Amino acid sequence: MHFTIVSIFPEFFDSFLSCGLMAKAVEAGVVAVDRINPRDFATDKHHTVDDRPYGGGPGMVMGLPTLVTTLRSLPKPGRLLMLSPAGRPLTQEIAAELATEEALTLVCGRYEGIDARIFDLFDITPVSVGDFVLSGGESAAACLMESVSRLVPGFMGKEASADEESFASGLLEYPHYTRPEMFEGLPVPPDLLTGHHAAIAAWRRRRSLETTLHRRPDLFDATILSDEDLDFLRAVPRARPGRNMHIALVHGPVLLKDGKVGTVSLTNLDVHDIARVSRTYGLGGFEVVSPLRDQLTLAGRIVGHWREGPGLAANPDRAEALSLVRLHEDLDAALVAVGKDHGQPPALIATSARGPATMSFAAARELIGKRPVLVVLGTGHGLADAVLDRADGILPPLRPFSDYNHLSVRAAAGILTDRLLGDIL
Ligand SMILES: C[S@@+](CC[C@H](N)C(=O)[O-])C[C@H]1O[C@@H](n2cnc3c(N)ncnc32)[C@H](O)[C@@H]1O
Repeated sequence: MHFTIVSIFPEFFDSFLSCGLMAKAVEAGVVAVDRINPRDFATDKHHTVDDRPYGGGPGMVMGLPTLVTTLRSLPKPGRLLMLSPAGRPLTQEIAAELATEEALTLVCGRYEGIDARIFDLFDITPVSVGDFVLSGGESAAACLMESVSRLVPGFMGKEASADEESFASGLLEYPHYTRPEMFEGLPVPPDLLTGHHAAIAAWRRRRSLETTLHRRPDLFDATILSDEDLDFLRAVPRARPGRNMHIALVHGPVLLKDGKVGTVSLTNLDVHDIARVSRTYGLGGFEVVSPLRDQLTLAGRIVGHWREGPGLAANPDRAEALSLVRLHEDLDAALVAVGKDHGQPPALIATSARGPATMSFAAARELIGKRPVLVVLGTGHGLADAVLDRADGILPPLRPFSDYNHLSVRAAAGILTDRLLGDIL
């Protein structure tokens, strides 16, 4: 692998290239590194590489004249990459893809970044090493070079070791232990001492699954898990318990078709489907709110049929879901009931297909991890202002960029719940 680093601080890489496996790889010719300083291509006496930004604002911008001359002079550029916080996030998968190239050029930005017309002049891929801002691309380039080099044949003593590491199987790696067997009262996990390969492999798989679940559940999105993996994961307690969240389905006050505020009738399907969502995601309860007594009586009969009546024997799973349903004549009664369940009043989070939002999904997820939350959905044409105004937060609409936004409240309840409590978040 041939790397060309384009940087105004080539000396940054001195220690990086002179220790550990990287130094060995350079010495063995597995990796070759050229360092090019764009200042050497500047024509003015100060070797200027930056200029003031058009449009004003703080900082300087790396200009094109010297940088373009630099890039056009490279003898072996290979694929061009630019380190940038606005780039494609670097992953093991990308590192593996880059490791198949013969040569890579890494352009390190400084100041506020590089004149954006660089993308019109070169086929150059921006790559980020994380959602944070560094002062320059050099340390990011070092990360990229190391992650790619490790996957170049001959870099690591034993190639198999890369297959076992974090991300190689789509999961985080299991923990490691070494001697002494007991340190300050802390033993090495006994499974690792059995000498039994299958038992050790099973233990490592479980720890890998558990670590991924707690720290990076998003990785499961790209992984196919076995039945055995799923059985194990089901038994692991989750950090964000669904029982902190309750859904309230409000039938009044809601907006009606004509824009007035009123009450709409209860829909049997809503009660069934949102109860099933509630049970599937382990919610604390499903609060059905209607100011109309006959509607609550109707809801009571529907629920009773499945919970205690003939429906129970026909479909016990449905009884289990509908056992989460409680009926209330107004939102205050629902808030009191949820507060009693948890020993503290819940936060009230409203939903709206129209906005304006005041609470992000990420903030709502964090809240659910800490305290009871009542997520309120409106029937009809959505919750009335009287409800929205008293909410601690209003979630953003689902599908905010779509010009057609008419989900049924049942569908919205399912999608919202997955956004708030989904397994891979
Ligand atoms: C101070 S930063 C520029 C930040 C830029 N104005 C912004 O807000 O996105 C200067 C240079 O550091 C490098 N850099 C900073 N953060 C990075 C990251 N997370 N990943 C890759 N490169 C980064 C880039 O080369 C960037 O051009």
